[in-house]
Amino acid sequence: MMTSRQALKTTVLASAALATATTLRTALAQPTPGPTAAAGATGPFTLPPLPYAFDALEPHIDALTMQIHHDKHHAAYVANLNKAVAEFPELGKKRVEDLLRDLNAMPEKIRTAVRNQGGGHYNHTLFWQMMKKDGGGQPSGELLKGVEKRFGSFPAFKDEFTKAALGQFGSGWAWLVLDPDKHLGIEPTPNQDSPISQNKQPLLTVDVWEHAYYLKYQNRRPEYVAAFFQVIDWDFVSERYKQALS
Ligand SMILES: [Fe+2]
Repeated sequence: MMTSRQALKTTVLASAALATATTLRTALAQPTPGPTAAAGATGPFTLPPLPYAFDALEPHIDALTMQIHHDKHHAAYVANLNKAVAEFPELGKKRVEDLLRDLNAMPEKIRTAVRNQGGGHYNHTLFWQMMKKDGGGQPSGELLKGVEKRFGSFPAFKDEFTKAALGQFGSGWAWLVLDPDKHLGIEPTPNQDSPISQNKQPLLTVDVWEHAYYLKYQNRRPEYVAAFFQVIDWDFVSERYKQALS
């Protein structure tokens, strides 16, 4: 025989399940917001356009992955960041990197959302710019000198960066950063955490969330990271290094 407490619990659980199913059905019935929907109308943060065509990085990174990654995943981070800051219009006037640089200054209510959604927005914005059609090769100039001084050689840097990317358990990123003492370093971050929240300047990054590679590479993350090296825009990364040093 069911007690009144058990009956109440059953009713609550059934209502919650119904609400979840309704929410899912509603969400599925809605068109997923694309770049235009996420940009502008829904809040202060906007989805930047991809700086090249979806298929520009073929055959290394496929067009469908790029389209879903940018138009759905990145767009969702922007939309969710806008939702998070809706109650705090003064935060919408700042750049996302400024929010991330001082997470402790964020209202507690939205600190985790800014960390995750703001991190997702900032990290992806950087990531798109770090790749280009016919990229790859290796850096030149000051960045090459810096890499050789810190890691011994470019291949040694590539090995260490790849290890960080493959060693990140679960979702996350691998980074080449410049620390406050202007030393180069390689580190992974989990989820959407960004080195700028640790007062480090990101120079190069690779997204190792499965959404970045699963369609083409499935569980073969090493192949994806090797492919990423074929599309890196070293001119962009070198320019960031120069600016970070100055
Ligand atoms: Fe991603």
